[in-house]
Amino acid sequence: STGLITLDDGYGNTGSCASAITFIDGEKGILRYRGVPIEDLAARSSFIETAELLIFGELPDPEARDEFRQLLTENSALHRDMRKHFDGFPADAHPMAILSAMINALQAYDLPEIHITDASGFRRAAAALLAKTRTIAAASYKSHIGQPIAYPRYDMPYAENFLHMMFSVPYRDYEPTPEVAHALNMFLVLHADHEQNCSTSTVRMVASGGANLFASVSAGVNALWGPRHGGANMAVVEMLSRIHQEKIPVSRYIDQAKDRSSGVRLMGFGHRIYRSFDPRAQILKEAAHSLLESLNVTDPLLDIARQVEEAALADDYFRERRLYPNVDFYSGIILRAIGIPTDMFTVMFAIGRTPGWIAHWKEIHDNAAQRIHRPRQLYVGEPLTQWLPPAER
Ligand code: SDX
Repeated sequence: STGLITLDDGYGNTGSCASAITFIDGEKGILRYRGVPIEDLAARSSFIETAELLIFGELPDPEARDEFRQLLTENSALHRDMRKHFDGFPADAHPMAILSAMINALQAYDLPEIHITDASGFRRAAAALLAKTRTIAAASYKSHIGQPIAYPRYDMPYAENFLHMMFSVPYRDYEPTPEVAHALNMFLVLHADHEQNCSTSTVRMVASGGANLFASVSAGVNALWGPRHGGANMAVVEMLSRIHQEKIPVSRYIDQAKDRSSGVRLMGFGHRIYRSFDPRAQILKEAAHSLLESLNVTDPLLDIARQVEEAALADDYFRERRLYPNVDFYSGIILRAIGIPTDMFTVMFAIGRTPGWIAHWKEIHDNAAQRIHRPRQLYVGEPLTQWLPPAER
């Protein structure tokens, strides 16, 4: 049963659970979803097919694939009354605040999916959450910029449909180029799961208490919001933009990042597990270059990113600490090229990570032997202390 195993990877990272969803070898830079290498999925798989692999444990056959897509289509729209929530948020509300609130609010509409009783109920719930998370994200952006919400189209694959809901306007439908759609699809595939990261562990913790799928994933959204986790992709673009706009020599920025007292970190570098390249960073680096080339645009931030990477990898400080580019280092450049606004970057990470959160919730939910997560602590506080009346304190 899970929860009774203490694993130690030799770097002081100890684990206390077993999972069959994602495998990472930080030494060799290996990442597999249900045993399938991330490189194969990024090159050949759609985001929804990857989601089905993670959630249901195997790549879908054509019949299962079509049935799940139909469930997504049927569940893409939001309940009419949910529109009122969008109207209630101030225009400058952070889209991550809206996303976590709205995923939680889905329960109030008593989706039959909340009370999962069997396998088909779970399939509907998974489809509803994947579909509605995308719709909520796009609608929060439209509300933020004061444009009418664009409804999902039923003839578009997942990534294209999201871009349609983000960028179509009443007088013109947005249709992404194949290269843009492929880049977004790959971005989502690469973010779909990553074993026991901060937000996924949060989902598992909440799920272990018996909370439903929507409440658990809403908690995961909040955990992802932090700049050291899902907020890093935005922080990377802010870092590269600052270097560009203030014409900071890359060598000087690297020196600042090495000095703990400077408070500057090389955002997009380092990882708790990978002690060599994050395989996702490699794939995203090439994808960023290909996308910009297909759009015939140059982004000075890509050139700066390359210079920063080269300088850091040549520097003893980073080499000795085995700090390499992680998934966030190049992902922001792709999102910029697609036209996603910076304050939506972490939301994009959340859309990508939703299949992983759902899969981990299910792993906890299905395990009858699963006990509520209750981390033990090392008490470092005061010894036995007597209560004194205020006059004697
Ligand atoms: C994600 O867990 C996951 O899988 C997460 C994720 C996922 O898919 O879910 O992969 C997504 O969150 C990627 C990480 C995104 N965050 C960033 O890029 C922020 C910048 N990175 C750092 O904050 C840091 O590298 C972490 C948080 C990612 C990892 O931190 P660790 O493993 O706890 O490293 P540490 O704080 O113990 O640092 C070890 C040493 C320290 O120096 P010394 O005390 O030995 O002198 O390395 C230094 C740190 O100062 N260091 C850095 C650094 N990261 C670590 N120095 C400069 N720049 C950095 N980015």
